[in-house]
Amino acid sequence: MTPSTAGALRRPDIADPVTYAAGVPHEEFTRLRLTEPVSWVQEPLLWRHSSGGRIAERGSGFWAVTTHEAVLSVSRRPEEFSSGAKGAFLVDPRTPADLRQTRQLLVNMDAPQHLRIRRLVTSVFTPRAVRGLVESVTAHATALVDRVARAGRFDAVTDLACELPLLVLSDLLGMPREDRHLLYRWSNHLVGFDDPDYGGGDVEAYRRTFVEAFQYALRLAMERRDNPTGDLVSLLANAEVDGQRLSDREFCNFWLLLVVAGNETTRHLISGSLEALAAYPAERDRLVSGAVPVPTAVEELLRWVTPIMQFRRTATRDTELCGRRVSEGDKVVIYYTSANRDAAVFADPQRLDLGRDPNPHLAFGMGPHFCLGSHLARLEATALLTAMRPHLAAFELTGPVARLESNFVNGAKSMPARIAGAPQRT
Ligand code: HEM
Repeated sequence: MTPSTAGALRRPDIADPVTYAAGVPHEEFTRLRLTEPVSWVQEPLLWRHSSGGRIAERGSGFWAVTTHEAVLSVSRRPEEFSSGAKGAFLVDPRTPADLRQTRQLLVNMDAPQHLRIRRLVTSVFTPRAVRGLVESVTAHATALVDRVARAGRFDAVTDLACELPLLVLSDLLGMPREDRHLLYRWSNHLVGFDDPDYGGGDVEAYRRTFVEAFQYALRLAMERRDNPTGDLVSLLANAEVDGQRLSDREFCNFWLLLVVAGNETTRHLISGSLEALAAYPAERDRLVSGAVPVPTAVEELLRWVTPIMQFRRTATRDTELCGRRVSEGDKVVIYYTSANRDAAVFADPQRLDLGRDPNPHLAFGMGPHFCLGSHLARLEATALLTAMRPHLAAFELTGPVARLESNFVNGAKSMPARIAGAPQRT
């Protein structure tokens, strides 16, 4: 073995979910940006379980797109880099039926269908509509922070970060708040498919989660078709596209996308932000003293954490990207997590600088699929950090952070923490 191949063997595999249990491999992304901003990556063997036994699956391999400029270029050429051809997730749909199911999700659609469906809910997520939620989101954030501050010791993921988006979502969707833990379980199973503590690679359990979530959603839809209220479910259940109501299947898929997208992402932004503030006390102090406004800090924390690390596209024709020839049908993965640490755009990108402004991060993506919930996510993070501000100087982690084994979301499953000086209740 030559020294260079030995070096290559030791490199973290950016496609392997297990890699991320130790944190995002930023050094490897830096190397890729500098040496091969569009580079071919072999996919690892991943074990899947079902009642038929254990099978190993290996994806086709993909182009990893790692610079800010190249990620923007792919995002702005949706006719050449499709979300619908094979979906927007790294793992290929297993069967034609899976592909059909995948394409029912907004995030996996192309124009013109994509815009027709997206339009149905844009009104709920405009800055103006989100401003109407300030009071309720602030009240939830304050109550949650008060509770953990009283407890003294708590888990920053399960007691704090996961709760705010779940409460906000149950209000938006018009669900009983007690049911929010169903949303938590379903999205953990779907997004954490590869993690041994959540989905565990169990294909049948994955499908069962869809069935369970869809049954729940359908019950809600039927109630709201008979008795519409002002919530998002009533809007979706009664919405028409080209004079036709959404089918039950379309409704369920939209509902589930909102449940997953509005839940996991914001959770990981909040817990990742708290972890970063504990690790960088000088930056934390700028936030605590008011030297940096909370919304400015939230933008930097979005860049720093980048809760959704990548999305996938498929080339619809032979084309070129940063001098590489990409063939029709190739899988192309845009790494927001890498684009957000690109020194060509961000000065000193590996430094957390809460006052960074401007901050053209791509944490919410770019182009036609730009995150629908960005204003809501910003509001939630701002409300939570504002409520936490008086306690931040005393906030510290008390144990190891358990990270999610996922090559898709940058998240933690648990983060033992305390607010020092607060009463300690066990
Ligand atoms: C910190 C929090 C969040 C992050 C980092 C985030 C990130 C993203 C990203 C990167 C995309 C682009 C998908 C692509 O490129 O294909 C996206 C799309 C989307 N997000 Fe978010 N998101 C967050 C919060 C939310 C919330 C709170 C909601 C709703 C309640 C939401 C709903 C959606 C939806 C529906 C899409 C699909 C849009 C489309 O395909 O047209 N997101 N999000």
